[in-house]
Amino acid sequence: MAVPNRTLSSGAEMPGIGLGTFGSDHVSPAAVANAVRLGLDLGYRHIDCASVYGNEAEIGQVFASTDVPRDHLWISSKVWNDSHDRVAASCEQTLRDLQVDYLDNYLVHWPFPNSHAAHADVDERNPDAVAFNTEAYLETWEQMEGLVSRGLVRHIGTSNMTPAKFDAVLPSMAITPSVNEMELHPHFQQPEFIAYLRDCTIEPIGFCPLGSPNRPERDRTSADTSPTKDTAIAEIAHKRGVHPATICIMWAIANGHTPIPFSTSERNLASNLAAASAEPLSSEEIAIVGAADRDCRLIKGQVFLWKDGQSWTDLWDIDGVIAS
Ligand SMILES: NC(=O)c1ccc[n+]([C@@H]2O[C@H](COP(=O)([O-])OP(=O)(O)OC[C@H]3O[C@@H](n4cnc5c(N)ncnc54)[C@H](OP(=O)(O)O)[C@@H]3O)[C@@H](O)[C@H]2O)c1
Repeated sequence: MAVPNRTLSSGAEMPGIGLGTFGSDHVSPAAVANAVRLGLDLGYRHIDCASVYGNEAEIGQVFASTDVPRDHLWISSKVWNDSHDRVAASCEQTLRDLQVDYLDNYLVHWPFPNSHAAHADVDERNPDAVAFNTEAYLETWEQMEGLVSRGLVRHIGTSNMTPAKFDAVLPSMAITPSVNEMELHPHFQQPEFIAYLRDCTIEPIGFCPLGSPNRPERDRTSADTSPTKDTAIAEIAHKRGVHPATICIMWAIANGHTPIPFSTSERNLASNLAAASAEPLSSEEIAIVGAADRDCRLIKGQVFLWKDGQSWTDLWDIDGVIAS
């Protein structure tokens, strides 16, 4: 079976599984680029990049030397928080680094212009950090729309948004976001948000689809749970003779998400791709994984907070109100 495509509201077909490229602070740019090379050889056609991952130049060397034609690839990247007021310059740098003439998708990485140094501890705060601001976000979005007009990017999208923030910005956007990239795995399923996105014709892209087992220390708390260690998921995996990671990918595909797992291992890259094109989970298995939800957000984003004494939940508008 072939990897499923997801049809965007524009009619474009996006490969329904992508390859993540965030080295989680411990995988070198060269090793990530090597994973992209292996991934292309195995059949991945959707690569999820970002300038802040610090490896676009190395990945660009892979794109420049691959036999895969450009129009068979879906390449996305993201503007980092420190460049919300200089989107075009940041996108042009990404195009140079990735050695491509256009991006298939370009996302606003976070809805806050708050950046942090690499390897920042969770308690670190940027003194210039600010709350989400609707007008400022729309100004950034207008710059994103300008890239579409110039033909530098085919689609634009968002990441790490919330329904409340979408409610604030969607009515004023000339171009509706193609996708929202967000944390999605069996322990963080967000069914109401997914239904919201479906109503808005925005495709959900799922990051950390395996629960990011090797994420940086700063993104770990004692309350975190792991979908690949879930007993119900492990039992389904055991019966099928596969790793629980395979069940996480199959669950994402069954729910119409586009998972973007990262791996440096050829075996894991191959098994994740195979999971996306395998016979689907049964309705009973889907129900079992559905019941495994822990509402456990792993990437909390503490470093983007803007005031002392705040909780990371302020970034996520849990009660439906944008925190100020
Ligand atoms: N938009 C955003 O703000 C945002 C935030 C976070 C992440 N992302 C994107 O999402 C991508 C994926 O997230 P992630 O890398 O944090 O988490 P993930 O894909 O859930 O987990 C990746 C880890 O799982 C291991 N793994 C992969 N396949 C496996 C398999 N079949 N069996 C066992 N272990 C397996 C990998 O180790 P091995 O190398 O040993 O296989 C890797 O360290 C990132 O690379 C990035 O592109 C975006």
